Amino acid sequence: MEKIRVGIAGAGFAARFHIESYRRVYRVPVEVVGLSSPTKERRERLASEQGVQSYDSLQQMIKSVDLIDICVPGYAHEKVAIEALDAGCHVIIEKPFTGYYGDGSREFRGNKFSKEAMLKEALRSAERIDAAAKKSHTKVMYAENWVYSPSIQKEIEILRSTKGQILWMIGEESHSGSHSDSYGNWSLSGGGSLVGKACHPLTAILYLKNQEGFLRNGKGIGPESVSSNVHEITRLPSFRDEGFLRTRYDDVEDYAQLHITFTDGTVADVFSSELVLGGVHSWLEVFANNHRTRCRLSPVEGLSTFNPKEELLRDVYVMEKIGSKQGWSSPALDENWLNGYYQEIQDFMESVYYGRDAQSGLELGRECVKVMYSAYVSAERGGEKVRLSS
Ligand SMILES: NC(=O)c1ccc[n+]([C@@H]2O[C@H](COP(=O)([O-])OP(=O)(O)OC[C@H]3O[C@@H](n4cnc5c(N)ncnc54)[C@H](O)[C@@H]3O)[C@@H](O)[C@H]2O)c1
Repeated sequence: MEKIRVGIAGAGFAARFHIESYRRVYRVPVEVVGLSSPTKERRERLASEQGVQSYDSLQQMIKSVDLIDICVPGYAHEKVAIEALDAGCHVIIEKPFTGYYGDGSREFRGNKFSKEAMLKEALRSAERIDAAAKKSHTKVMYAENWVYSPSIQKEIEILRSTKGQILWMIGEESHSGSHSDSYGNWSLSGGGSLVGKACHPLTAILYLKNQEGFLRNGKGIGPESVSSNVHEITRLPSFRDEGFLRTRYDDVEDYAQLHITFTDGTVADVFSSELVLGGVHSWLEVFANNHRTRCRLSPVEGLSTFNPKEELLRDVYVMEKIGSKQGWSSPALDENWLNGYYQEIQDFMESVYYGRDAQSGLELGRECVKVMYSAYVSAERGGEKVRLSS
């Protein structure tokens, strides 16, 4: 392969930071050829801003590229992936890897629908993606940026050196509510805080625990059971809306909590919500038998600045979802780097070019889907412990 030709499906928030990440790739020849999305105006604006081609259809774009990078809402992940895989393209799939997006009926309400049925169908969806990749001998990479975040990668280095046993992990991703129009509606997003946010610390936790076992004795350690609770706090009759949190949720939760046990009996806890002011709140703490690590993804205090008047920092980027720039803040020094976006695309490009496995691949995506939808089953049963099917 002379160079990897990439086509981006989608022209929104994720498409932009993916394109920026391709620009930083080194040692591997790669070109973002173009992008496609159903909204013409948005597609053409981003394409012209980034100097890439705007394709009217995904089918057209697929013919000109080696890899489709899927940056569209969750409900379209499987469809776009299978179309690309069937045409012989490798795929990168944004989070959530896949899920359950309704039975097609107008009456479908995710928060009222059987979670066991959802779990079964979400796993079938992952199965179909796997089968298509196997058939076309192509790669599926799962764009879970937390795996590539410098703080999580540093913990891997520490585990490699200490051969530590992780006893407990706790992590969170929360903020004041997603910007995306598709968020809040189960049939587009596949769930609420659990699927949209908890997926990040959850996947990092699954990855770390797997690595721990692998580094010590060549065999990963997987999850065994999950218990969970979800809530719809901003839709409580008692909620007093002061206008700072997003509230336009239809049938998804805005708070989720998961407790996971692993096959070696150790545990992890994950929190996610749409209830947190002050910017994206992303962190993970590792308690091992021989070390303890706090991974901070956001905020990261590279610097602190005091701003007496909101408009003084009008043109200065501070951090995602900060809300207000007045007073003390900790502007992100390079959010894409801290989030692991550049490192993720670098790993994916190397994996395609040199024919090796990516650190975050199909199996990790599938495992995350299994834990998330099993967590919904648990929440439906009032927090009962649910064993993860093999
Ligand atoms: N890893 C991260 O930190 C992160 C951050 C944000 C979003 N995401 C993920 O990226 C994906 C896109 O999210 P976003 O925030 O960019 O959303 P967005 O709403 O900003 O953009 C979505 C884009 O997809 C297009 N689209 C919608 N339906 C489509 C379809 N059926 N086929 C093709 N294109 C379609 C839209 O026209 C739009 O251009 C989601 O899976 C989301 O979960 C990941």
